Amino acid sequence: MGNILSGKQILLGVSGSIACYKAADLASKLTQQGASVTAVLTTAARQFITPLTFQSVTGQRAFTDEDLWGSEGHIQHIGLGHQSDLIVIAPASANTIAKIAHGICDNLLTLASLAAPCPLLIAPAMDSGMYTHAATQANIKILRERGVYIAGPAMGRMASGLSGFGRMLEPTEIIGHIRLLLGRQAGKLSGRHLVVTAGGTSEPIDAVRTITNRSSGKQGFAIAQAAIDQGAEVTLIAGVTHLPTPIGAKRIDVNTAQEMLTAVLETVQDADALIMAAAVADYRPETAVTEKLSKEQGIPQIQLTLTPDILSAVAHYRAQSGYPRVVIGFAAESSDLIERARQKLARKKLDLIIANDITATDAGFGTDTNRITIIDPTGNAQVFPLMTKEEVADLILQKIVPLLEAAP
Ligand code: CTP
Repeated sequence: MGNILSGKQILLGVSGSIACYKAADLASKLTQQGASVTAVLTTAARQFITPLTFQSVTGQRAFTDEDLWGSEGHIQHIGLGHQSDLIVIAPASANTIAKIAHGICDNLLTLASLAAPCPLLIAPAMDSGMYTHAATQANIKILRERGVYIAGPAMGRMASGLSGFGRMLEPTEIIGHIRLLLGRQAGKLSGRHLVVTAGGTSEPIDAVRTITNRSSGKQGFAIAQAAIDQGAEVTLIAGVTHLPTPIGAKRIDVNTAQEMLTAVLETVQDADALIMAAAVADYRPETAVTEKLSKEQGIPQIQLTLTPDILSAVAHYRAQSGYPRVVIGFAAESSDLIERARQKLARKKLDLIIANDITATDAGFGTDTNRITIIDPTGNAQVFPLMTKEEVADLILQKIVPLLEAAP
């Protein structure tokens, strides 16, 4: 499957707004993620930024209205849209939005947008009075009804110094929306509901202290993003992590293992697959003190007790209901990796287990890379080399597709 942006032809329309400077960053980030980006600037955009900026960050020729009236003009405006997998207009001014809503094509960008058969994503950027004006709202409604994807705008500080609705989304957020849109077009998991857990749980000792672990949540979040790239509906149950929510995921934040268990059992009722990437604390203090413990009370003797085993509870629920149809677990081990992971797969009745050796410095908790072994119920173990957590996520989803097709 691979990164969804890789090899995609994106036409980036840039219209007149101070947010043009962010469009250069967006073009750069999309290019770095493997997309081929062709920028088209309106005359107003050229007051804020030059075609050379886009050419420099994308390595592709950037177009302006001067190209419309050249000898290749006609071919240009039809060709640009036809070669694209997606048109993104960011920033989209009130003027450009109005033109596209009404089919007015008096410049290269609006012409290319009208002529293109591919999806269109618009990221509005304008003064809040202009955005909330009935005319702009009516234009946006027309575009939405026509299937145009509107990303943002956000609430925040405007160039005028005032605060309001109309700020263009940040480039990383726009990329999240692009991935959601592209995934919905042709994703292999379109129509599937995946529940993903991520991060460590946190078990209270007193009002301020907890027992937790070093899980960053990166692997689970990468799985959620990869599932969105493949068009899945994703519920992301997150423990302790500050990672941003992948655009399109429904996020449920939890603290304790018990809260995670409740959230998992509620959301798997119609789920096609559960991927338990969370590092659930195995023990919790038997009684949590509601106030803050003080040194004056002496060194506390904390009696620990077991937390619920979420995957075992899911196995029980699945035996009765058939849901979730596929269950994948992780095994974080510091010794006897394969044997211990095999035993966990059997004990927790999993369809696959992803084993990782947490003693390696380049894999496991907190790192950006992982070394995994995938074990199936026949005991077959497939060892993989060092990969990024995004690559691991993609690999896991590649395994889920045939499992779902075969599942009852
Ligand atoms: N897990 C779970 N509920 C728990 C603990 C773990 O559902 N209370 C899940 C994890 O999310 C993971 C799998 O079980 O997908 C294996 O977790 P791991 O910590 O490796 O195994 P444990 O069952 O906790 O066993 P041990 O710590 O003794 O190795």
